[in-house]
Amino acid sequence: MKIAEIRAEGMDTKEFMDDKVREISNTVGSALAINALSGGVDSSAVTMLGHKALGGRLKTYFIENGLMRKGEPEKIVSVFKKLGVAVEIVDAKDKFFRALKGITDPEEKREAITQTFYKDVFGRLVKDSGAKYLLQGTILTDVDETVAGIKRQHNVFEQLGIDTQAVFGYKIIEPLVQIRKDGVRKVAEALGLPESIYNRMPFPGPALSARVIGEVTPDKIALVREATAITEEELSGIKAFQYMAILHNDRVTGMRDGKRDYGLQIEIRCWDSFDARNAKPTRVPYEKLEKLANRMVSEVPGVVSVTYNITTKPPSTMEAI
Ligand code: XMP
Repeated sequence: MKIAEIRAEGMDTKEFMDDKVREISNTVGSALAINALSGGVDSSAVTMLGHKALGGRLKTYFIENGLMRKGEPEKIVSVFKKLGVAVEIVDAKDKFFRALKGITDPEEKREAITQTFYKDVFGRLVKDSGAKYLLQGTILTDVDETVAGIKRQHNVFEQLGIDTQAVFGYKIIEPLVQIRKDGVRKVAEALGLPESIYNRMPFPGPALSARVIGEVTPDKIALVREATAITEEELSGIKAFQYMAILHNDRVTGMRDGKRDYGLQIEIRCWDSFDARNAKPTRVPYEKLEKLANRMVSEVPGVVSVTYNITTKPPSTMEAI
């Protein structure tokens, strides 16, 4: 079934919020629901809509998958505590790394993440809590790209003909599926979320595993986490839709202390975009790129090459995986 898009420009934010709160409340009835909060604008907006609709009948979890950025779980839990929303951290690091072991194909990696999230982790949480519904922040761009076969976004099921009740044992509610990122930001602001959340840069569901080319291991994630922190620090003043660091699988010859060093490559991407459907590389000042490269080779062990991607989307996609 075609989803009726609601465009950010023409959206009556208050009416949208009221409709969604009513819909969630009517669908869930007197049952219990759960949701996973990653701290991104989509899952944050859904968390607030869900709490408005269900109050204590919504239980919110932060899934610590071992693939998040530096300090992320603690930061997000503390932001929501201030908003009066209790968030429980679920340690699932081992499950995710086990599922990703030995996988190099990008779509197989995405599938491993999806299965671990929805079958293993949520399946158990649903069983333990007695919840009947999972609320999640799928947006229209996620559906478009998955249905078009470009990328299997981690959170798209119904639109692929997957019956989540039959496969995972619970139903999924998607209050944001008619809008895109620009619309979600408006809703998030109207819901009283702080600017650090409603203007937060997008981050993909598969998290840092979308930024490791080849097999995902705890060591590679630690490297790309460090590279991500440096990239976010150095580019934070830039007006851009999203920026990221990617760890490549191939090594290249470099030199260190007068000796050959067959080392690692980091690729930086920084995008200008409105809604993630199309994107252009940001014209980052050269001095910023130079500083970024210098920090990367001195602070991330083993890196001998740093490149900046100058391709548009399409044919590139924003994430490398
Ligand atoms: P791509 O790489 O498809 O990214 O051009 C477009 C936007 O979507 C984000 N992205 C995801 N978001 N689940 C998500 O919730 C995913 O599986 C996923 N993959 C990519 C990406 O960060 C960018 O903002």
